[in-house]
Amino acid sequence: MTIQTPAPPFIQLHHEDRAALRDELVAGLLETPAHIAPKFLYDALGSRLFDAITELPEYYPTRTEAAIFEQFGAEMAGVVPGGSILLDLGAGSCAKAARLFPVLRPAAYVAIDISVDYLRDTLQQLQKQHPALAMLGLGMDFSARFSIGAEVADWLSDGPAAQAPRVVFYPGSSIGNFNPDEALALLRQAHAVCRSGSAGGGLLIGVDRAKPKAVLEPAYDDALGVTAAFNRNLLLNVNRVLGADFSPAAWQHVGLFNAPLSRIEMHLEATTQQTVCWPGGQRVFGAGERLHTESSYKWPPEAFEALLREAGFGQARHWSDAQGWFSVFWAPA
Ligand code: AVI
Repeated sequence: MTIQTPAPPFIQLHHEDRAALRDELVAGLLETPAHIAPKFLYDALGSRLFDAITELPEYYPTRTEAAIFEQFGAEMAGVVPGGSILLDLGAGSCAKAARLFPVLRPAAYVAIDISVDYLRDTLQQLQKQHPALAMLGLGMDFSARFSIGAEVADWLSDGPAAQAPRVVFYPGSSIGNFNPDEALALLRQAHAVCRSGSAGGGLLIGVDRAKPKAVLEPAYDDALGVTAAFNRNLLLNVNRVLGADFSPAAWQHVGLFNAPLSRIEMHLEATTQQTVCWPGGQRVFGAGERLHTESSYKWPPEAFEALLREAGFGQARHWSDAQGWFSVFWAPA
C-alpha cells in the first residue's frame, strides 16, 4: 500500500490588475527619461532567460551566494533559530531554501511568490521529499506590501509552528532591485513580520556588494548576449500587456555601473528615431534615447547594516566570500 503525501495548501492573495499595469506603463513611457519597472522583465520567457543568466560565467552573484551558504551554513545554524517558520520571499523554484532545510531545520515553510501557479508543482514535489515539514504556497506581491494576513495566521494556528519564531529568507540580492527608500520600506515590513512570532526571529538575506566596474559590467552585459535578450524581451512583454508596437531589434541593451549611486543600470537605447504607438497614445524616441528598465544596487556591508538598523533590526552579522563580492546577513528582529 502506498501512502499519499497530502498536497500543501495554496493561498492566492494577489490578483493582477491589467488596467493598473497599463496605466503604470503609459506613465513611465511618457516621462523623460522614459522608464519601465523591472517586474516587466519577468514574463515566462524572461524568467527562463534570468535562469540562464545565473549560469553565465560573468554573472557571479548566484554561485557566490551558494558558496557562502555551503561554507558557512553550520555557523548560520548557530544563530538562526531551528524549529522556525521559514518565509521564503520570491521562492520561485524553492531550491535555495530547500538546500538549507537540513541546516536550518524549520518547523514550517511558507513559499511566497507573486503567483501560486509558479509554486504549485515545485512545492508538491518538495512536500513529498519532506513529508513532515508543514508547507504553504502563498501568492502575494510582497514588493507592494509584505505582511502576514489572517489567512496565513489561520493556517499557522492549526499547526505545531503557530508560536515558532519567524525567519524571513530573501536570497539572491533581489533587495538590490529596490531603490534605497523602497528597500527600507520592505525591510521595515519584514521586521514587523519577524517580530510577530515568538522571540528569536530575524532576516536571512543575500546582498550583492560594491566592487570594481570591470567585474560588475560584464555581469550585466555578457559575451553571449543573454542579458541583452532578457532586457529586450521586456519590450515583447510590454507589447502584450499594453498593445504597444515596440520593435525589439531597434533597441540595444546597455548595462553600466553608475558609481556615484552604487548601482548597475540597465537601459534600452533606441538605435534609430522611431515612434512607438499603443492604444490611445504614442511617443517619439530619438536615436540614442534611453529607456531605463532596471537598477541593481550594490551595497557596501556597512551601509546595508545601517539600513537594517534603520528598519528596526538588531545587531546584524554577515558572511562573505574570500573576494568580498557578496554577503549574507543575519539580522535578528
Ligand atoms: C533578480 N536580480 C537580483 C538580478 C540582479 O542581479 O539585479 C536581476 C538581473 N538583471 C540583470 N541580470 C540579472
